[in-house]
Amino acid sequence: MQYFRYQDNELYCEDVLLKELAEEFGTPLYVYSRRQIVENFRAFEAPLVGMDHVICYALKANANLSLLKLLLQEGAGADVVSGGELHLAIQAGFPPERITFAGVGKREDEIDYALRSNIFSLNAESPQELQLISLVALRLQTPARVALRINPDIDPQSHPYITTGLKQNKFGISAEEALRVFQFAASLPGIQVVGVHTHIGSQITKIEPFVETAKFLAELVRKLREAGINVQHVDFGGGFGVQYANALRHEALPLEPDNAPPPKLGQFVEAVLPVLKETGCFLWFEPGRSIVADAGVLLTKVLYTKENGARKFVVVDAGMNDLLRPSLYNAYHQIVPLKIETYEHHRVDVVGPICETGDFLARDRMLSKVKRNDYLSILTAGAYGFSSTSNYNARPRPAEILVNGEKVRVIREREAVERLR
Ligand SMILES: Cc1ncc(COP(=O)(O)O)c(C=O)c1O
Repeated sequence: MQYFRYQDNELYCEDVLLKELAEEFGTPLYVYSRRQIVENFRAFEAPLVGMDHVICYALKANANLSLLKLLLQEGAGADVVSGGELHLAIQAGFPPERITFAGVGKREDEIDYALRSNIFSLNAESPQELQLISLVALRLQTPARVALRINPDIDPQSHPYITTGLKQNKFGISAEEALRVFQFAASLPGIQVVGVHTHIGSQITKIEPFVETAKFLAELVRKLREAGINVQHVDFGGGFGVQYANALRHEALPLEPDNAPPPKLGQFVEAVLPVLKETGCFLWFEPGRSIVADAGVLLTKVLYTKENGARKFVVVDAGMNDLLRPSLYNAYHQIVPLKIETYEHHRVDVVGPICETGDFLARDRMLSKVKRNDYLSILTAGAYGFSSTSNYNARPRPAEILVNGEKVRVIREREAVERLR
């Protein structure tokens, strides 16, 4: 997150003082660095230059229309997981031939919408889904281009809730059944089998599971061709991990228990390319988190501090409705003050205003000492942050700001209380 840095002990996003944004637009407030997003996308793409490829940004990570338009300008395609995301991708202007639709539970109306929109492919996850796609394709008299999502049973060594490529996960078609289901798909009227898809999980910080997956896919493509099924594209999915702990360093900040920083984005891609290239297929990738996570922060204000004998609490104005990840899977986000005023730290729980014990942003965490009305920044919050906000406890959703150099743009207004229904 090189575009967030301290200068004279105050935190900046690019050339903008974050405290000024918090004061002008209020908190909780999402702030994104345009340069960081562009740089992440380019770092991902660099090893692919000169090859047939599409980088489909996974909208589920953050589907703000302004960010989508920015990524579209950079040449991205779109990976969508619902009719709603498809609508946003089309609204942002993504050409249909660069849109792919994955998801274990597509409804009939969503399949209908995807086929009418003439998107590049539907990534199907079961024989029953294939049958439904075939029926809808026949009804619309439109051939459906389909890739099959195969679950390779590879352990990504990530959090169990964001592991998707293991046998016990609900996603995809098992490796053992792959050939049989491909043959079934090829036999269905209205279906054109075009590719193989996989996605083994999210926040994967090791290269090995990806290389293993690439080898699995290359072998599968070979077997399919032997059986007369000539797939033309491999969709490798996303899942490339980012740094959460110690994302920002300063001598006044406590050093966090470090899980070693993940490989650089380009290194992940470089590691799998030699294997994937051998297939001769058109390559698709679906990164989400690695494009936007470290480009975003969530600003929040300290409402109160208190102690109950056993624990110290810092009560802030952002809760699980604004950033669900800590409550959902105990995800770790570094939390830092917008202004460094002390080198002293204390061990606290950072909690939100929601009426749930599970509403926390950090637990048992060494934090720079703070007091009422101080501002904090929750780092690496650009992915799966705003996109999983809710109105729980009838709290309006936060605003979103995009910073470009010294320019500031509101890319989503704070939701007004009057709009709650
Ligand atoms: C099918 C698929 N593709 C891509 C992604 C994006 O993953 P990430 O944000 O980890 O890159 C996901 C995330 O769950 C997914 O399910």
